[in-house]
Amino acid sequence: MIYLDNHATTRVDPRVVRAMLPVFDTYYGNAGSVTHEVGMDAHDLVQQSAATIANIIGARADEIVFTSGATESNNLAILGVCHADNPKRHMITAQTEHKAVLDPMGRVCREFKFDITQLPVGEWGSQYAGLIDLNALESAVARETALVSIMMGNNEIGTIQPIKQIAEICHRHGAVFHCDATQAVGKLPVDVDDLGFDLMSFSAHKIYGPKGVGALYVRKRDRRIRLRSQIDGGGQQSGRRSGTVNVPGVVGMATALQLCADELFGESVSQENCAGKIDPIDSDIEKAKDIDEVIEPHRIKQLRDSLYRLLTEKLGTLPINGQPLDAEDSRLYCNLNCQFPGVNAHSLMTMVDTVAVSTGSACTAADPEPSHVLRSLGLIDEQIHSSLRFGIGRFNTHAEIAESADLIVAAVTKLREMI
Ligand SMILES: Cc1ncc(COP(=O)(O)O)c(C=O)c1O
Repeated sequence: MIYLDNHATTRVDPRVVRAMLPVFDTYYGNAGSVTHEVGMDAHDLVQQSAATIANIIGARADEIVFTSGATESNNLAILGVCHADNPKRHMITAQTEHKAVLDPMGRVCREFKFDITQLPVGEWGSQYAGLIDLNALESAVARETALVSIMMGNNEIGTIQPIKQIAEICHRHGAVFHCDATQAVGKLPVDVDDLGFDLMSFSAHKIYGPKGVGALYVRKRDRRIRLRSQIDGGGQQSGRRSGTVNVPGVVGMATALQLCADELFGESVSQENCAGKIDPIDSDIEKAKDIDEVIEPHRIKQLRDSLYRLLTEKLGTLPINGQPLDAEDSRLYCNLNCQFPGVNAHSLMTMVDTVAVSTGSACTAADPEPSHVLRSLGLIDEQIHSSLRFGIGRFNTHAEIAESADLIVAAVTKLREMI
Protein backbone atom coordinates (compact mmCIF):
# COMPACT_ATOMS: atom_id res chain seq x y z
CA MET A 1 0.00 0.00 0.00
CA ILE A 2 1.30 3.45 -0.87
CA TYR A 3 0.01 5.92 1.69
CA LEU A 4 -0.80 9.34 0.21
CA ASP A 5 -3.50 10.35 2.71
CA ASN A 6 -1.37 12.23 5.23
CA HIS A 7 -4.03 14.88 5.88
CA ALA A 8 -6.26 12.19 7.37
CA THR A 9 -3.54 10.87 9.63
CA THR A 10 0.14 10.01 9.57
CA ARG A 11 2.14 6.96 10.39
CA VAL A 12 3.72 7.32 13.84
CA ASP A 13 7.42 8.08 13.50
CA PRO A 14 9.53 5.21 14.93
CA ARG A 15 11.42 7.75 17.05
CA VAL A 16 8.10 8.82 18.59
CA VAL A 17 7.24 5.19 19.32
CA ARG A 18 10.64 4.77 21.00
CA ALA A 19 10.04 7.83 23.18
CA MET A 20 6.58 6.61 24.19
CA LEU A 21 7.37 2.99 25.05
CA PRO A 22 8.94 3.51 28.50
CA VAL A 23 5.92 5.56 29.55
CA PHE A 24 3.71 2.48 29.34
CA ASP A 25 5.70 0.26 31.67
CA THR A 26 8.30 2.33 33.50
CA TYR A 27 6.75 5.79 33.95
CA TYR A 28 3.20 4.49 34.16
CA GLY A 29 2.01 6.68 37.03
CA ASN A 30 -1.04 8.91 37.09
CA ALA A 31 0.16 12.47 36.55
CA GLY A 32 -2.38 13.56 39.16
CA SER A 33 -0.96 11.27 41.88
CA VAL A 34 1.71 13.62 43.10
CA THR A 35 1.89 12.03 46.56
CA HIS A 36 4.49 9.49 45.44
CA GLU A 37 7.40 9.15 43.07
CA VAL A 38 5.59 7.07 40.44
CA GLY A 39 2.98 9.80 40.06
CA MET A 40 5.59 12.56 40.23
CA ASP A 41 7.54 10.95 37.38
CA ALA A 42 4.42 11.02 35.20
CA HIS A 43 3.64 14.56 36.34
CA ASP A 44 7.17 15.65 35.35
CA LEU A 45 6.78 14.06 31.93
CA VAL A 46 3.55 15.97 31.32
CA GLN A 47 5.13 19.23 32.49
CA GLN A 48 8.20 18.64 30.37
CA SER A 49 6.07 17.80 27.31
CA ALA A 50 4.00 20.96 27.80
CA ALA A 51 7.24 22.97 28.05
CA THR A 52 8.62 21.39 24.85
CA ILE A 53 5.42 22.14 22.91
CA ALA A 54 5.10 25.64 24.37
CA ASN A 55 8.69 26.43 23.48
CA ILE A 56 8.12 25.47 19.85
CA ILE A 57 4.95 27.54 19.42
CA GLY A 58 6.22 30.54 21.41
CA ALA A 59 3.90 29.96 24.36
CA ARG A 60 4.21 29.28 28.09
CA ALA A 61 3.76 25.73 29.43
CA ASP A 62 0.73 26.75 31.51
CA GLU A 63 -1.02 27.92 28.32
CA ILE A 64 -1.20 24.35 26.96
CA VAL A 65 -4.30 22.25 27.71
CA PHE A 66 -4.00 18.63 26.60
CA THR A 67 -7.09 17.12 24.99
CA SER A 68 -8.06 13.99 23.06
CA GLY A 69 -7.38 15.70 19.72
CA ALA A 70 -8.23 18.74 17.64
CA THR A 71 -11.95 17.95 17.59
CA GLU A 72 -12.08 18.30 21.36
CA SER A 73 -9.79 21.35 21.27
CA ASN A 74 -12.13 23.08 18.79
CA ASN A 75 -15.16 22.20 20.92
CA LEU A 76 -13.44 23.47 24.05
CA ALA A 77 -12.50 26.73 22.32
CA ILE A 78 -15.93 27.45 20.83
CA LEU A 79 -18.20 26.15 23.60
CA GLY A 80 -15.74 27.37 26.24
CA VAL A 81 -16.01 30.95 24.96
CA CYS A 82 -19.78 30.58 24.52
CA HIS A 83 -20.18 29.53 28.17
CA ALA A 84 -17.68 31.99 29.63
CA ASP A 85 -19.43 34.85 31.37
CA ASN A 86 -19.54 37.09 28.35
CA PRO A 87 -22.45 39.20 27.14
CA LYS A 88 -21.32 39.00 23.48
CA ARG A 89 -23.56 36.75 21.38
CA HIS A 90 -21.95 36.59 17.92
CA MET A 91 -19.32 34.32 16.37
CA ILE A 92 -17.70 34.25 12.94
CA THR A 93 -16.23 31.38 11.00
CA ALA A 94 -15.72 30.37 7.35
CA GLN A 95 -17.65 27.96 5.14
CA THR A 96 -14.53 25.87 4.51
CA GLU A 97 -13.78 25.10 8.16
CA HIS A 98 -13.55 21.51 9.40
CA LYS A 99 -16.78 20.01 10.77
CA ALA A 100 -15.11 20.05 14.19
CA VAL A 101 -15.54 23.84 14.04
CA LEU A 102 -18.77 24.11 12.03
CA ASP A 103 -20.70 21.66 14.20
CA PRO A 104 -19.96 23.27 17.59
CA MET A 105 -20.74 26.63 15.96
CA GLY A 106 -24.10 25.15 14.91
CA ARG A 107 -24.76 24.06 18.49
CA VAL A 108 -23.85 27.49 19.83
CA CYS A 109 -26.41 28.92 17.40
CA ARG A 110 -29.22 26.40 18.03
CA GLU A 111 -28.89 25.87 21.76
CA PHE A 112 -27.42 29.12 23.01
CA LYS A 113 -28.96 31.53 20.49
CA PHE A 114 -25.73 33.04 19.23
CA ASP A 115 -25.67 34.63 15.77
CA ILE A 116 -23.16 32.87 13.56
CA THR A 117 -21.66 34.41 10.43
CA GLN A 118 -20.14 31.91 7.99
CA LEU A 119 -17.84 33.80 5.64
CA PRO A 120 -17.70 32.60 2.02
CA VAL A 121 -14.37 32.01 0.28
CA GLY A 122 -13.04 33.04 -3.12
CA GLU A 123 -14.42 31.05 -6.07
CA TRP A 124 -12.60 28.26 -7.85
CA GLY A 125 -10.48 29.64 -10.69
CA SER A 126 -10.19 33.11 -9.17
CA GLN A 127 -7.06 34.58 -7.61
CA TYR A 128 -8.69 34.26 -4.18
CA ALA A 129 -9.85 30.64 -4.50
CA GLY A 130 -10.40 29.27 -1.00
CA LEU A 131 -9.36 32.47 0.77
CA ILE A 132 -11.66 34.54 2.94
CA ASP A 133 -12.15 38.18 2.01
CA LEU A 134 -10.60 40.37 4.70
CA ASN A 135 -13.05 43.19 3.88
CA ALA A 136 -15.94 40.81 4.47
CA LEU A 137 -14.43 39.87 7.83
CA GLU A 138 -13.95 43.53 8.70
CA SER A 139 -17.62 44.22 7.89
CA ALA A 140 -18.87 41.16 9.81
CA VAL A 141 -16.92 41.66 13.02
CA ALA A 142 -18.65 43.91 15.52
CA ARG A 143 -18.64 44.87 19.20
CA GLU A 144 -20.83 41.88 20.02
CA THR A 145 -18.48 39.38 18.29
CA ALA A 146 -17.19 37.06 21.00
CA LEU A 147 -15.08 34.76 18.81
CA VAL A 148 -13.69 34.45 15.30
CA SER A 149 -12.59 30.93 14.31
CA ILE A 150 -10.62 30.60 11.08
CA MET A 151 -8.30 27.72 10.28
CA MET A 152 -4.68 28.11 9.20
CA GLY A 153 -4.22 25.29 6.64
CA ASN A 154 -7.25 23.65 5.05
CA ASN A 155 -7.38 19.84 5.36
CA GLU A 156 -8.89 19.33 1.89
CA ILE A 157 -7.46 21.97 -0.41
CA GLY A 158 -4.47 23.12 1.64
CA THR A 159 -5.36 26.83 1.58
CA ILE A 160 -3.37 28.93 4.05
CA GLN A 161 -5.46 31.88 5.23
CA PRO A 162 -3.91 35.35 5.86
CA ILE A 163 -3.78 34.64 9.58
CA LYS A 164 -1.87 37.72 10.79
CA GLN A 165 -4.30 40.12 9.11
CA ILE A 166 -7.26 38.14 10.47
CA ALA A 167 -5.83 38.36 14.00
CA GLU A 168 -5.26 42.07 13.63
CA ILE A 169 -8.88 42.67 12.56
CA CYS A 170 -10.22 40.52 15.44
CA HIS A 171 -8.16 42.31 18.05
CA ARG A 172 -9.03 45.76 16.73
CA HIS A 173 -12.68 44.88 17.36
CA GLY A 174 -12.08 43.15 20.72
CA ALA A 175 -12.93 39.64 19.46
CA VAL A 176 -11.11 36.50 20.57
CA PHE A 177 -9.27 34.78 17.70
CA HIS A 178 -9.31 30.98 17.59
CA CYS A 179 -7.35 29.15 14.92
CA ASP A 180 -7.68 25.48 14.03
CA ALA A 181 -4.03 24.99 13.09
CA THR A 182 -4.24 21.19 12.97
CA GLN A 183 -2.90 20.94 9.42
CA ALA A 184 -0.30 23.70 9.86
CA VAL A 185 1.43 23.05 13.17
CA GLY A 186 4.60 21.03 12.57
CA LYS A 187 4.55 21.90 8.87
CA LEU A 188 4.84 25.68 8.96
CA PRO A 189 6.52 27.89 11.56
CA VAL A 190 3.82 28.72 14.12
CA ASP A 191 4.47 31.33 16.79
CA VAL A 192 1.33 32.25 18.70
CA ASP A 193 2.50 35.80 19.40
CA ASP A 194 3.69 36.49 15.89
CA LEU A 195 0.45 35.15 14.38
CA GLY A 196 -1.79 36.70 17.06
CA PHE A 197 -3.55 33.55 18.26
CA ASP A 198 -5.66 33.68 21.41
CA LEU A 199 -6.70 30.04 21.09
CA MET A 200 -5.14 27.42 18.83
CA SER A 201 -6.12 23.78 18.25
CA PHE A 202 -3.71 21.09 17.13
CA SER A 203 -3.38 17.34 17.11
CA ALA A 204 -0.57 14.77 17.41
CA HIS A 205 -1.68 12.30 14.77
CA LYS A 206 -1.27 14.78 11.92
CA ILE A 207 2.42 15.21 12.74
CA TYR A 208 3.62 11.60 13.04
CA GLY A 209 2.47 11.30 16.65
CA PRO A 210 -0.18 9.04 18.21
CA LYS A 211 -3.94 9.30 17.74
CA GLY A 212 -6.21 10.42 20.56
CA VAL A 213 -4.11 13.30 21.86
CA GLY A 214 -4.09 16.98 20.99
CA ALA A 215 -3.91 20.35 22.65
CA LEU A 216 -5.52 23.73 22.88
CA TYR A 217 -3.29 26.74 23.34
CA VAL A 218 -5.11 29.21 25.63
CA ARG A 219 -3.54 32.67 25.88
CA LYS A 220 -2.85 33.75 29.44
CA ARG A 221 -0.13 36.34 29.24
CA ASP A 222 -1.30 39.66 27.75
CA ARG A 223 -4.92 39.11 26.69
CA ARG A 224 -6.10 36.50 29.20
CA ILE A 225 -8.77 34.37 27.54
CA ARG A 226 -11.66 33.21 29.67
CA LEU A 227 -12.96 29.74 28.86
CA ARG A 228 -15.47 27.55 30.65
CA SER A 229 -14.32 23.92 30.93
CA GLN A 230 -16.40 21.41 28.98
CA ILE A 231 -15.36 18.23 30.79
CA ASP A 232 -15.77 18.26 34.54
CA GLY A 233 -14.47 15.72 37.02
CA GLY A 234 -11.16 15.43 38.82
CA GLY A 235 -10.10 19.00 38.10
CA GLN A 236 -6.94 17.97 36.23
CA GLN A 237 -5.05 20.60 34.19
CA SER A 238 -6.09 23.33 36.64
CA GLY A 239 -9.74 22.45 36.11
CA ARG A 240 -9.60 23.38 32.42
CA ARG A 241 -10.02 19.79 31.23
CA SER A 242 -10.75 17.06 33.74
CA GLY A 243 -9.72 13.48 33.11
CA THR A 244 -6.53 11.51 33.65
CA VAL A 245 -3.91 12.88 31.29
CA ASN A 246 -2.81 10.50 28.51
CA VAL A 247 0.86 10.55 29.52
CA PRO A 248 2.27 8.33 26.73
CA GLY A 249 0.22 10.33 24.22
CA VAL A 250 1.42 13.65 25.55
CA VAL A 251 5.07 12.48 25.47
CA GLY A 252 4.48 11.23 21.92
CA MET A 253 2.96 14.54 20.88
CA ALA A 254 5.85 16.57 22.30
CA THR A 255 8.41 14.27 20.67
CA ALA A 256 6.59 14.40 17.34
CA LEU A 257 6.38 18.18 17.37
CA GLN A 258 10.03 18.48 18.39
CA LEU A 259 11.04 16.33 15.43
CA CYS A 260 8.96 18.47 13.07
CA ALA A 261 10.47 21.64 14.49
CA ASP A 262 14.00 20.27 14.16
CA GLU A 263 13.36 19.38 10.55
CA LEU A 264 11.67 22.69 9.84
CA PHE A 265 14.34 24.85 11.37
CA GLY A 266 17.33 22.53 11.01
CA GLU A 267 18.11 22.45 14.71
CA SER A 268 19.30 19.31 16.47
CA VAL A 269 16.89 17.34 18.61
CA SER A 270 16.77 18.35 22.28
CA GLN A 271 18.67 15.94 24.48
CA GLU A 272 16.71 17.25 27.47
CA ASN A 273 13.57 15.74 26.03
CA CYS A 274 11.24 14.52 28.75
CA ALA A 275 13.42 15.44 31.69
CA GLY A 276 16.13 12.98 30.72
CA LYS A 277 13.87 10.06 31.62
CA ILE A 278 13.38 8.93 28.07
CA ASP A 279 16.23 7.81 25.83
CA PRO A 280 17.39 10.81 23.83
CA ILE A 281 16.12 10.70 20.28
CA ASP A 282 18.69 10.24 17.54
CA SER A 283 19.69 13.70 16.47
CA ASP A 284 21.01 12.31 13.21
CA ILE A 285 18.00 11.92 11.00
CA GLU A 286 19.68 9.29 8.85
CA LYS A 287 20.07 6.97 11.83
CA ALA A 288 16.33 6.65 12.17
CA LYS A 289 15.06 3.31 10.93
CA ASP A 290 12.66 3.13 8.01
CA ILE A 291 13.52 6.59 6.72
CA ASP A 292 15.34 6.45 3.44
CA GLU A 293 15.77 10.09 2.57
CA VAL A 294 16.50 13.35 4.31
CA ILE A 295 13.30 14.90 5.59
CA GLU A 296 12.64 18.52 4.74
CA PRO A 297 9.58 20.48 3.73
CA HIS A 298 11.09 21.17 0.33
CA ARG A 299 11.50 17.42 -0.25
CA ILE A 300 7.80 16.94 0.42
CA LYS A 301 6.99 19.82 -1.91
CA GLN A 302 9.19 18.24 -4.60
CA LEU A 303 7.32 14.95 -4.22
CA ARG A 304 3.95 16.71 -4.43
CA ASP A 305 5.02 18.71 -7.51
CA SER A 306 6.49 15.68 -9.20
CA LEU A 307 3.25 13.71 -8.65
CA TYR A 308 1.25 16.47 -10.33
CA ARG A 309 3.78 16.78 -13.15
CA LEU A 310 3.80 13.02 -13.85
CA LEU A 311 0.00 12.93 -13.87
CA THR A 312 -0.49 15.92 -16.16
CA GLU A 313 2.28 14.83 -18.58
CA LYS A 314 0.22 11.76 -19.41
CA LEU A 315 -3.34 12.88 -18.71
CA GLY A 316 -3.41 16.51 -19.85
CA THR A 317 -4.90 19.30 -17.74
CA LEU A 318 -6.05 18.37 -14.24
CA PRO A 319 -7.66 21.50 -12.76
CA ILE A 320 -6.34 22.33 -9.31
CA ASN A 321 -8.82 22.94 -6.49
CA GLY A 322 -7.72 25.90 -4.39
CA GLN A 323 -4.62 28.03 -4.73
CA PRO A 324 -1.95 27.30 -7.39
CA LEU A 325 0.71 24.78 -6.34
CA ASP A 326 3.45 27.41 -6.50
CA ALA A 327 1.57 29.83 -4.19
CA GLU A 328 3.78 28.97 -1.23
CA ASP A 329 2.22 31.50 1.14
CA SER A 330 -1.33 30.38 0.48
CA ARG A 331 -1.09 26.63 -0.14
CA LEU A 332 0.36 23.85 2.02
CA TYR A 333 3.35 22.29 0.26
CA CYS A 334 2.16 18.78 1.09
CA ASN A 335 -1.34 19.10 -0.43
CA LEU A 336 -2.62 18.30 -3.90
CA ASN A 337 -6.35 18.40 -4.65
CA CYS A 338 -7.24 18.20 -8.32
CA GLN A 339 -9.97 17.16 -10.72
CA PHE A 340 -9.73 14.25 -13.16
CA PRO A 341 -12.20 15.43 -15.82
CA GLY A 342 -14.45 12.69 -17.14
CA VAL A 343 -13.65 10.35 -14.25
CA ASN A 344 -15.54 9.48 -11.09
CA ALA A 345 -13.09 9.75 -8.18
CA HIS A 346 -14.67 6.84 -6.29
CA SER A 347 -14.31 4.55 -9.30
CA LEU A 348 -10.72 5.70 -9.63
CA MET A 349 -9.97 4.96 -5.98
CA THR A 350 -11.53 1.51 -6.34
CA MET A 351 -9.38 0.74 -9.37
CA VAL A 352 -6.19 2.00 -7.74
CA ASP A 353 -6.73 0.26 -4.44
CA THR A 354 -3.04 0.01 -3.57
CA VAL A 355 -2.73 3.80 -3.29
CA ALA A 356 -4.41 5.35 -0.23
CA VAL A 357 -5.97 8.69 -1.16
CA SER A 358 -9.33 10.27 -0.43
CA THR A 359 -12.03 12.45 -1.85
CA GLY A 360 -12.24 14.71 1.17
CA SER A 361 -11.96 14.89 4.92
CA ALA A 362 -11.54 11.54 6.72
CA CYS A 363 -13.74 12.80 9.50
CA THR A 364 -16.68 13.19 7.14
CA ALA A 365 -15.97 10.11 5.03
CA ALA A 366 -19.05 8.46 6.50
CA ASP A 367 -21.11 11.39 5.24
CA PRO A 368 -22.36 10.73 1.68
CA GLU A 369 -22.74 14.47 1.02
CA PRO A 370 -20.14 15.88 -1.39
CA SER A 371 -17.35 17.88 0.22
CA HIS A 372 -18.66 21.15 1.69
CA VAL A 373 -15.22 22.66 1.05
CA LEU A 374 -15.34 22.01 -2.69
CA ARG A 375 -18.96 23.21 -2.71
CA SER A 376 -17.89 26.46 -1.06
CA LEU A 377 -15.42 26.99 -3.89
CA GLY A 378 -18.41 26.97 -6.26
CA LEU A 379 -17.56 23.66 -7.94
CA ILE A 380 -20.43 21.88 -9.68
CA ASP A 381 -21.26 18.24 -8.82
CA GLU A 382 -19.36 16.85 -11.79
CA GLN A 383 -16.17 18.65 -10.72
CA ILE A 384 -16.58 17.63 -7.09
CA HIS A 385 -17.13 13.97 -7.97
CA SER A 386 -13.99 13.94 -10.11
CA SER A 387 -11.75 15.40 -7.38
CA LEU A 388 -9.11 13.59 -5.34
CA ARG A 389 -7.07 14.77 -2.38
CA PHE A 390 -3.44 13.71 -1.97
CA GLY A 391 -1.50 14.39 1.24
CA ILE A 392 2.24 13.82 0.89
CA GLY A 393 4.17 13.02 4.03
CA ARG A 394 7.52 12.31 5.61
CA PHE A 395 7.66 8.64 4.72
CA ASN A 396 6.82 8.95 1.03
CA THR A 397 9.57 8.32 -1.48
CA HIS A 398 10.20 9.28 -5.10
CA ALA A 399 9.69 5.64 -6.09
CA GLU A 400 6.25 5.62 -4.47
CA ILE A 401 5.26 8.81 -6.26
CA ALA A 402 6.33 7.41 -9.63
CA GLU A 403 4.48 4.15 -9.00
CA SER A 404 1.31 5.94 -7.84
CA ALA A 405 1.37 8.19 -10.91
CA ASP A 406 1.70 5.16 -13.23
CA LEU A 407 -1.20 3.36 -11.53
CA ILE A 408 -3.45 6.43 -11.59
CA VAL A 409 -2.62 7.24 -15.23
CA ALA A 410 -3.46 3.67 -16.27
CA ALA A 411 -6.74 3.69 -14.35
CA VAL A 412 -7.84 7.14 -15.60
CA THR A 413 -7.06 6.13 -19.19
CA LYS A 414 -9.14 2.99 -18.78
CA LEU A 415 -12.04 4.84 -17.15
CA ARG A 416 -12.02 7.49 -19.88
CA GLU A 417 -12.11 4.78 -22.53
CA MET A 418 -15.21 3.35 -20.91
CA ILE A 419 -17.21 6.58 -21.27
C1 LIG B 1 -8.27 20.99 10.20
C2 LIG B 1 -8.67 19.88 11.11
N1 LIG B 1 -9.28 20.17 12.26
C3 LIG B 1 -9.65 19.22 13.13
C4 LIG B 1 -9.45 17.89 12.86
C5 LIG B 1 -9.85 16.86 13.86
O1 LIG B 1 -8.68 16.38 14.50
P1 LIG B 1 -8.69 15.11 15.46
O2 LIG B 1 -8.72 13.91 14.58
O3 LIG B 1 -7.41 15.22 16.24
O4 LIG B 1 -9.87 15.20 16.35
C6 LIG B 1 -8.82 17.53 11.66
C7 LIG B 1 -8.65 16.12 11.28
O5 LIG B 1 -8.92 15.73 10.15
C8 LIG B 1 -8.42 18.56 10.77
O6 LIG B 1 -7.81 18.28 9.61
